[in-house]
Amino acid sequence: MELIGRRSEWRALLTSHRRAGAHVGLVPTMGALHAGHLSLVEAARRGCDVVAMTIFVNPLQFGDAADLGAYPRDLEADLTAAAGAGVDAVFAPSVEEMYPTGPPGTVVVPGPLAGLLEGRSRPGHFEGVATVVTKLFSLAGPCSAFFGEKDFQQLVVVRRLVTDLDLPVAVVGCPIVRDGDGLALSSRNRRLGPAERSAARLLYRALEAGRVVIESGGTPERAEQEMASLLATDELVRPDYAAAVDPDSLLPPGDAAGPVRLLVAAEVGPVRLIDNLAAGPAPGGRAIT
Ligand code: PAF
Repeated sequence: MELIGRRSEWRALLTSHRRAGAHVGLVPTMGALHAGHLSLVEAARRGCDVVAMTIFVNPLQFGDAADLGAYPRDLEADLTAAAGAGVDAVFAPSVEEMYPTGPPGTVVVPGPLAGLLEGRSRPGHFEGVATVVTKLFSLAGPCSAFFGEKDFQQLVVVRRLVTDLDLPVAVVGCPIVRDGDGLALSSRNRRLGPAERSAARLLYRALEAGRVVIESGGTPERAEQEMASLLATDELVRPDYAAAVDPDSLLPPGDAAGPVRLLVAAEVGPVRLIDNLAAGPAPGGRAIT
């Protein structure tokens, strides 16, 4: 597995793979790899000839310095995991390499999708994501790029970015990987103490309860209330939002027969966690208000 730190070398490597006829699969990450990331690698290996992973903790997408400082980093372990999973090349640039002039003078400002849900609680977050993802796509060139559905809003924002800017990238969303008790895998889970880890299961329980409401014909508002009241049952969990939305627009679903995406966010101890779940329409449609 090749390890590359310079943008020019990364661009040259992926260009040479493409010239040789290979289809490149890009797996953008911030490191602290877990089985969720490795499932993206697995999907990339199935669909592409070369798997190219990026590992970069992007300061632009963190609102506060403490959150950025606390983000787990372990490059050595990540390289071992990536090599074991069959990654062909890793791009792990420094902050100075990615942003040589300091904070960039040009940023990518996503549209209204980015102002909802996470965007409301983390102003500027999706601007940072869209800017770094655009740079990573620009460096990689034409490819398929694999993103986890755990960051569902990020996936929707990135798809829209690619459409709006005509980027030569096929975005592939991959299912959430969960622990046995339902907790969605996240690099941030490492920072949970034992009691917080146990309390964190409430997010998935809330989503499951919301799914039951939707799939038995209840309204999205009812599902939101159900999820919010469950999230409020543990003092270690400080809920941020519990939403039942249209999976494309992230707005309240208008169509009684359409799919719904349930999304929750909460702080558990010192860690902000997010999770989401698809809820299919009830057999006879669901009530809408
Ligand atoms: O999902 C992540 O790990 C990050 O937001 C991403 C897409 C690598 C951009 O920094």
